[in-house]
Amino acid sequence: KRLILVGPPGCGKGTQSPQLKKEHCLCHLATGDMLRAAVAAGTPMGKEAEKAMQSGGLVADDIVVGLIEEASQRPECRIGFILDGFPRTLTQAEKLDDMLTKRGGGIDAVLDFSVPESILVERVTGRLVHPASGRSYHEKFHPPKKEGVDDFTGEPLIRRKDDTEEILKSRLKTFRDQTAPVLEHYKSKVAHIQAEKSKEDVAAQISKAL
Ligand code: AP5
Ligand code: ZN
Repeated sequence: KRLILVGPPGCGKGTQSPQLKKEHCLCHLATGDMLRAAVAAGTPMGKEAEKAMQSGGLVADDIVVGLIEEASQRPECRIGFILDGFPRTLTQAEKLDDMLTKRGGGIDAVLDFSVPESILVERVTGRLVHPASGRSYHEKFHPPKKEGVDDFTGEPLIRRKDDTEEILKSRLKTFRDQTAPVLEHYKSKVAHIQAEKSKEDVAAQISKAL
């Protein structure tokens, strides 16, 4: 299967991905995680991406399309993949469609995670992440077993630089203006997920939709 997860910042895309990945043997391709890795490594691409990410805007289409084009060709992605946070513009969606048409096939389903904006503030400002794996926790809703460290590796958890209330406002505006049209583009494949529910309830809705 080839799946797309679409939804505003903090809606739970990254949280639902590990289980989806496990259940369906899919690759988890998250452009946000890839870009943060490039920023941390200080590559030229990372330097360019960082400005857009810190302002709550979008990184250039060509950069993220290139990342997905390369990552999705890894042998382990042959069975399928979960696109988390991509495509985020109509141009990205069109380039993705072309890429998949050339390889034969297309997207199977688009999961639209909707959450009232008031809930997203608390989710994003309380988030803790394990940078190496991209795993997210929440200080109140999903605390790690031991305070401040990842459950699996024991490595420290950090806060994302863009997880402030102010940058969130800008990320939400970007989502409404530039990413909402992607849902319209894939209209016939969209399944609506009420992502304000508990993590377990959301996982059940996804299983049902697929
Ligand atoms: P990206 O990393 O994709 O950020 P985002 O889309 O803003 O989404 P988030 O990662 O913030 O949210 P999420 O839905 O994964 O939530 P999570 O599961 O962690 O992108 C970052 C930036 O990179 C962008 O702003 C842009 O600049 C750039 N970028 C990335 N892709 C791009 C592209 N394609 N084109 C151009 N630029 C791009 O959950 C959030 C919190 O809530 C966690 O603490 C979690 O524990 C908690 N939580 C999750 N589910 C629940 C639940 N059901 N109940 C209670 N709490 C929950
Ligand atoms: Zn995420």
